[in-house]
Amino acid sequence: MNSTAVKVLRRLGALDLGKMIARGRLSVSGLKSREKVSNLPTLIDRHFLAISQPQHPCRETLSTALSLLGERPAVIIETGSSAWGTNSTMLFDSYCNSFGGQCRSVDIRLEPLLTLQSLATSHTKLYCNDSVSFLNELSVENNKIDLLYLDSWDVNWDDPMPSAIHGLNEYLAAIKNLKPGSLVLIDDTPKTVENIRAVQPLLAKPYEQFCERFGFAPGKGALIKQLIESTGRGTVLAHEYQLLIRI
Ligand SMILES: C[S@@+](CC[C@H](N)C(=O)[O-])C[C@H]1O[C@@H](n2cnc3c(N)ncnc32)[C@H](O)[C@@H]1O
Repeated sequence: MNSTAVKVLRRLGALDLGKMIARGRLSVSGLKSREKVSNLPTLIDRHFLAISQPQHPCRETLSTALSLLGERPAVIIETGSSAWGTNSTMLFDSYCNSFGGQCRSVDIRLEPLLTLQSLATSHTKLYCNDSVSFLNELSVENNKIDLLYLDSWDVNWDDPMPSAIHGLNEYLAAIKNLKPGSLVLIDDTPKTVENIRAVQPLLAKPYEQFCERFGFAPGKGALIKQLIESTGRGTVLAHEYQLLIRI
């Protein structure tokens, strides 16, 4: 790149932006003003009806996790911002906007941050970074996350281990901010072959092949579940397509 082009880009702020993204330092707060909802069941109904699907397979576990927050202010940390899922960032933003607290959501791509900034309220802060780096650096009040939602590295069901390892690394990076009572909800961790068949019927076969080979089920939270079960640190509260744990 010649020096004139560099000067123009610098003047436009593009070089600083590039450096911030490369260092994982780019974060913005939501700018939208949204209506508060007076109770959680209505908030959940509205979310799944208007933004997602009324009978979404993740609805039950997301509802359970949010009801355990008791309509009180909460610190919600999410990896994998709203993209091709349940529009979870907007659900958590709605919770914090209505009942108080803060949602921080990280994604390795810039696009979710750019899209969500104009949709979410100031209760939500959006980060562009690798989720493990983000969680390693994360500092929250009283070192306590109320709800950690892990939904980043997508599972390749023909080769699910990289996603499970990433999920475990996220969990280990977050541990310093998980205290007794903290909730951890992990997406794409089907308990049985029926749970995956209900969502993606063609993936039942690779799911079963993994179970036969490794002796446990695949998914984003597969290795987190192994850790919880072998150490006894944490209790499984619910397990369907998603896995919900209380520390
Ligand atoms: C399944 S989507 C998230 C869906 C979202 N939670 C929702 O409900 O709409 C997974 C997201 O994780 C992001 N991702 C993948 N690897 C990541 C990583 N190492 N760190 C942070 N985000 C990552 C992807 O860019 C993608 O946006």
